[in-house]
Amino acid sequence: MSVRWCPVIVSVLGLLVFESALFVDGGTTSSFVRKYEKTIDMPLDSDVFTEPPGYNAPQQVHITQGDHVGKAMIVSWVTMEEPGSDTVVYWSEDSSSQNTAEGIITTYTYYDYTSGFIHHCNLTDLEHDTKYYYEIGIEHASRTFWFTTPPPIGPDVPFTFGLIGDLGQSFDSNITLTHYEMNPTKGKTVLFVGDISYADNYPYHDNTRWDSWGRFAERSTAYQPWIWTAGNHELDFAPELGETEPFKPYTHRYQVPFEASESTSPFWYSIKIASAYIIVLSSYSAYGKYTPQHEWLEKELPKVDRSETPWLIVMTHTPLYNSYIYHYMEGESMRVIFEPWFVKYKVDVVFSGHVHAYERTERISNIGYDVVNSKCDPIKDDSAPIYITIGDGGNLEGLAINMTEPQPMYSAFREASYGHAILDIKNRTHAYHSWHRNQDGYAVTADSMWFYNRYWYNHDLHASS
Ligand SMILES: *[C@@H]1O[C@H](CO)[C@@H](O)[C@H](O)[C@H]1NC(C)=O
Ligand SMILES: *[C@@H]1O[C@H](CO)[C@@H](O)[C@H](O)[C@H]1NC(C)=O
Ligand SMILES: *[C@@H]1O[C@H](CO)[C@@H](O)[C@H](O)[C@H]1NC(C)=O
Ligand SMILES: *[C@@H]1O[C@H](CO)[C@@H](O)[C@H](O)[C@H]1NC(C)=O
Ligand SMILES: [Fe+2]
Repeated sequence: MSVRWCPVIVSVLGLLVFESALFVDGGTTSSFVRKYEKTIDMPLDSDVFTEPPGYNAPQQVHITQGDHVGKAMIVSWVTMEEPGSDTVVYWSEDSSSQNTAEGIITTYTYYDYTSGFIHHCNLTDLEHDTKYYYEIGIEHASRTFWFTTPPPIGPDVPFTFGLIGDLGQSFDSNITLTHYEMNPTKGKTVLFVGDISYADNYPYHDNTRWDSWGRFAERSTAYQPWIWTAGNHELDFAPELGETEPFKPYTHRYQVPFEASESTSPFWYSIKIASAYIIVLSSYSAYGKYTPQHEWLEKELPKVDRSETPWLIVMTHTPLYNSYIYHYMEGESMRVIFEPWFVKYKVDVVFSGHVHAYERTERISNIGYDVVNSKCDPIKDDSAPIYITIGDGGNLEGLAINMTEPQPMYSAFREASYGHAILDIKNRTHAYHSWHRNQDGYAVTADSMWFYNRYWYNHDLHASS
């Protein structure tokens, strides 16, 4: 008997020692160090900002999911000269009959800037998993685009998400977007973790940089939904300019289906796509106890049915765990308030931006502290999410190169490069995450890991119990 038992015990102990040794030492700080250069925006006469030809032609076209389950799509665009038509004509690939939908038109002013005519139109009653063409604008200036609706919700429905944050409109932004488009694993929807145009870095928040960003990103945003998270560069709060309504340009330009998830604000909402349940939170709205966001999330989390959508994904702009010096601990107050729920409801992954670099944590939590018990350190926790910072789209302010040293034990991998990530959900148990740095014109896979679903396949727990 003992002869047979011994090797088992030794190997189990060996595994534990090996795992905890890895953990205590902290993770990897990539040895790839990018040559540090100041990030610069593409000039306004760049090819990516070209206006479409024709009088009053629709520009800055972008789409996002319009309802909770993926049978509606909000199409948005801007006309510069006059309101023009607010009609979208659309038809499915295998149908000869055309449908029309009427949208709304809005405008806003910001200091000395007056926006073009911003159109939003909700296309409803779409079929799942179907390619649709849509036409906007009239006569010579009409333009046609297409998108594919997501498959029906279901526990083993595969789906591929792109992950981009803090994109901006620099030369680096253009490289990141190009690499995302050229990735052989094709993302079908972008989970965007906030900080869009960086127009607010210009004098008087020059809102023409909102317009140029819309034209730059159109080559992706017109063809696949981007799921928006509000970042600090969307705030545009500038009392010195008389602009005291936070998020004014953002909310006029980008719509989200917040009402479909019984949210009272566009800054926090949820959607389902395929086998994923996505919860978008706002780092720049109140989230303390009794606030609308807190009350919403408290009601929202129990609604997630993991037998329908196994993958529970949270998006915030500010990371809750971040070992860069840049924005260090800015997410701490939200972490204290929401982390116990993330653990209780077994969130698979939290994606954030804000820090202009990449970082992936271990599965850890830090919820034991009660002011007097000294339990201040994060501990390994199989029910906890992995936190991924992907604020490395390109921005305008440069990379976050300074890191806290030594690398804390909760940080599994970190690197200050630009890039994008892909989350490739295979089925209810497995998803493959990969991060692709921009390296001298090429996208190089610099970090990757298998995600094992927290609800269906708590694999790490299996391994150590
Ligand atoms: C942006 O990227 C696209 C696609 O790679 C390229 O055609 C275009 O010239 C680039 N523009 C600038 C200004 O870098
Ligand atoms: C779009 O239409 C769908 C279906 O009628 C509805 O559930 C959703 O709330 C609408 N979205 C918006 C943003 O109006
Ligand atoms: C980052 O490190 C550089 C070089 O050590 C230093 O000059 C700079 O002040 C640091 N920045 C921050 C924000 O700590
Ligand atoms: C889920 O996907 C993983 C990775 O592709 C695969 O190894 C596994 O067998 C799949 N599970 C089922 C039940 O098909
Ligand atoms: Fe930010």
